[in-house]
Amino acid sequence: MAKYLVVGGAGFIGSNLVDLLVSEGHYVRVLDNLATGKQSNLPQNIDFIQADITHGDSILPYFEGIDGVFHLAARPSVPYSIEFPAESSLVNIMGTVHVLEAARHFKIKRVVYSASSSAYGPLAKLPEKPSMIADPASPYALQKYIGELLCTQFSLQYQLDTFSLRYFNVYGPRMTDVGAYVLVFVHFLRAKREGKPMRIYGDGTQTRDFTHVSDVAMANYQAMICRQDGRGVVLNVGCGNQTSINRIAEIIGGPIEYADPRPGDVPHSLADISETKKILGWNPKISFEDGLRDWMKSEGL
Ligand SMILES: NC(=O)c1ccc[n+]([C@@H]2O[C@H](COP(=O)([O-])OP(=O)(O)OC[C@H]3O[C@@H](n4cnc5c(N)ncnc54)[C@H](O)[C@@H]3O)[C@@H](O)[C@H]2O)c1
Repeated sequence: MAKYLVVGGAGFIGSNLVDLLVSEGHYVRVLDNLATGKQSNLPQNIDFIQADITHGDSILPYFEGIDGVFHLAARPSVPYSIEFPAESSLVNIMGTVHVLEAARHFKIKRVVYSASSSAYGPLAKLPEKPSMIADPASPYALQKYIGELLCTQFSLQYQLDTFSLRYFNVYGPRMTDVGAYVLVFVHFLRAKREGKPMRIYGDGTQTRDFTHVSDVAMANYQAMICRQDGRGVVLNVGCGNQTSINRIAEIIGGPIEYADPRPGDVPHSLADISETKKILGWNPKISFEDGLRDWMKSEGL
């Protein structure tokens, strides 16, 4: 049994990771300020600490005796980062410095950082590979990319072992279904339930690489336990498949209305996951079409 700290563990992806770690028989401590996460997402048999990563001194004691840290805490919203660039930088950049600094202080064996495919930017050549030059197009994308660079810096400067995982469009249980950053199919399912047409911005040929949250949780776990040294390693976590918005509407079924394209919409995303498979021995298990059909079944659609 290992002792893991999941920072940001009360949120969507973090709580799915907590479930996996508990099912693998590990001791789990969650540190979260509940800004967007909920304690009700968490099982009873874990240690929950309500604390804020922007306060470095107050989080330090909770890292003592921990074998590995998963760092997921963030303000993961592009609109929020555009409206509040200072507040979101404080959490996404300075908060990450505090987490890395606490891990360094207690000589923690490894930190696995939740990075974002938004680092590639809207014009990246497909498939997207971590070796490409980053081109973050929003404050959020930039802040998450700086988080990765900080991980690499701590690895080189202080020999702290780090892995950064760039996630592509994560979906699954406990994902948010309100707000400005909801995945497109959630809007379509809501339209279907309400008997309204599904609205597609642009011609619907835009594509996304959707990743089931259980595959993301497993990639985190495998990054934590893999034998390779993590000297600032950066890997993609996606399905490695493109699904167009038109195809999603076709699977869900129902009337469609087309509207003008939205400025800033990313035209395509597709992860190259060959390195992730090789280094972690990880493979995504749930295709998007299967995941979507299961989701619809669970909602009686
Ligand atoms: N959901 C996606 O598709 C996606 C894609 C790429 C990257 N990511 C990254 O994955 C991570 C998890 O995202 P999520 O979708 O589960 O979001 P989420 O909002 O559900 O989870 C973030 C968690 O961090 C906590 N948190 C926020 N500020 C904090 C602070 N100052 N101190 C302590 N805890 C704090 C929140 O309460 C929440 O529980 C984030 O780092 C995000 O940037 C997510």
